Amino acid sequence: MKQGNIALITGANKGIGFEIARTLARLGWRVFLGARNANAGREAASKITEGEVTFLHIDVADPASIQRAAEELSLQADRLDVLVNNAGILLDQDKSALTITPEIFDTTLRTNTLGPWLVSQAFVPILKKSAAPRIVNVSSGGGQLEDGADGWAPGYCVSKTALNGVTVQLAAALPKFAINSICPGWVRTDMGGENATRSLGEGAAGIVWLATDAPQELTGRFVKDRKVIPW
Ligand SMILES: NC(=O)c1ccc[n+]([C@@H]2O[C@H](COP(=O)([O-])OP(=O)(O)OC[C@H]3O[C@@H](n4cnc5c(N)ncnc54)[C@H](OP(=O)(O)O)[C@@H]3O)[C@@H](O)[C@H]2O)c1
Repeated sequence: MKQGNIALITGANKGIGFEIARTLARLGWRVFLGARNANAGREAASKITEGEVTFLHIDVADPASIQRAAEELSLQADRLDVLVNNAGILLDQDKSALTITPEIFDTTLRTNTLGPWLVSQAFVPILKKSAAPRIVNVSSGGGQLEDGADGWAPGYCVSKTALNGVTVQLAAALPKFAINSICPGWVRTDMGGENATRSLGEGAAGIVWLATDAPQELTGRFVKDRKVIPW
């Protein structure tokens, strides 16, 4: 396990993102805990007592906020080793492909797809200062096309299918980087609900592996439980 590396996790004030931040801090990483809500972000960072954790204000749906965050991180660190694009929203569980509204679709894509793309662009310069830069895009099995769709949350699922497209495009553009999409499984968070089958630790484990121990040569793939899965 690498020590002393530096990571930024977006949407890390709660849920899977918080668990990733806590785990990496425990492993000795310097962690920038990204959150759009400053109070929630500061409070979450203060809850992690092991390691060095710094709150970073970043709203992934706001290009100006993304730029400010990249400038702020550059003032505080000389490089970034891992970017985890974890922030995400699920707004259309009660909608079908025939009833989803343009507003919901637009907001969902802006956060879940364009957000990680713009965040990646903004942080590439400082990621390039790492000896082994990585980007982990937290996607979902809901975006997998292999078995078609089951009708659940169509906008969310399309946003994750498109996020997987972002992953392969960025991987092609940045051959020295390891850039992958991951499905964390169904995890007990505000988004996943209490009936989900996986704990926070189980949901974060595969993401932490991609951030730390996965081979640097593994790139442009969709991963679950440390294995490559079909798009
Ligand atoms: N839970 C599951 O079963 C499951 C399954 C597959 C994939 N995922 C994916 O895993 C990731 C984490 O989900 P989760 O279950 O931990 O959800 P969660 O508990 O609802 O947390 C989502 C996080 O994203 C943040 N966020 C939302 N919009 C944002 C924005 N515009 N800018 C910055 N942060 C923003 C939220 O901040 P606020 O607190 O301010 O809202 C929160 O910190 C998501 O990408 C999700 O799609 C989850």
